[in-house]
Amino acid sequence: MTRLLPMAGTALALLLAASQAQASGCIAATPGTSLSADEAAAVYDCLKDILLNGYRQGDKRWIPADYVEDYRSWSPASRYPAFSEAHGGRHLVTYVNEIGAADYLRFDESETEMPVGALLAAESFSVDDRGRAQPGPLFLMEKVERGRSPQTGDWFYMAVAPNGSPMVMDVISSCSACHQSRFGQRGGLGYPPAEARAQPVSASGSQPE
Ligand code: HEC
Repeated sequence: MTRLLPMAGTALALLLAASQAQASGCIAATPGTSLSADEAAAVYDCLKDILLNGYRQGDKRWIPADYVEDYRSWSPASRYPAFSEAHGGRHLVTYVNEIGAADYLRFDESETEMPVGALLAAESFSVDDRGRAQPGPLFLMEKVERGRSPQTGDWFYMAVAPNGSPMVMDVISSCSACHQSRFGQRGGLGYPPAEARAQPVSASGSQPE
């Protein structure tokens, strides 16, 4: 019996790899990781429906299904899908919900205490060395009540695979350790790279320039 377990594990890993490496049919103008902003935006246009339909498939189990249903109606926090080495060499498109928008979209470098109920979603895709785009996970963060998860800075981290399955992971080592060590001084927030950020919202709510 026990000899079957490693095999089952391998089969599962292959299945996961296969489901994550599904060909999207979207091809980037530049292969690899150095797409221009416009090229990355074009890939995202092609992938938009594929990503959303994939994330929406199946039961979300411990992840509230409405996060996945609703995130596209939140405020975009990035202007184009910027490359993120930290997220497995993928391009990220970030959204923030209404509760979190005013604070997140200031992209404040100092201590930011996000309001309870703030939600962030980052869709992702990768481009291989032949230019083929592949859907990546939907990364989610939720700010919870102070003291509810002190080890993670009171953030819940979640991820949905491209085929809609909630991803089982140790959120401390897979997510929080990096966010806390690199961005602990600004509330655990990574923010898109400066050039990819949506127009910042000032404290008065008006937009600069
Ligand atoms: C090695 C470091 C690292 C790890 C591990 C990591 N992240 Fe991130 N995360 C970042 C960085 C850097 C950003 C800024 C976005 C970018 O680079 O485009 C970010 C951004 C995000 C965002 C957008 C909100 C923000 O902080 O600006 C979400 C949501 C997110 N990560 C969730 C996750 C989840 C869920 C995991 C675990 C599965 C995870 N991250 C693992 C570094 C990391």
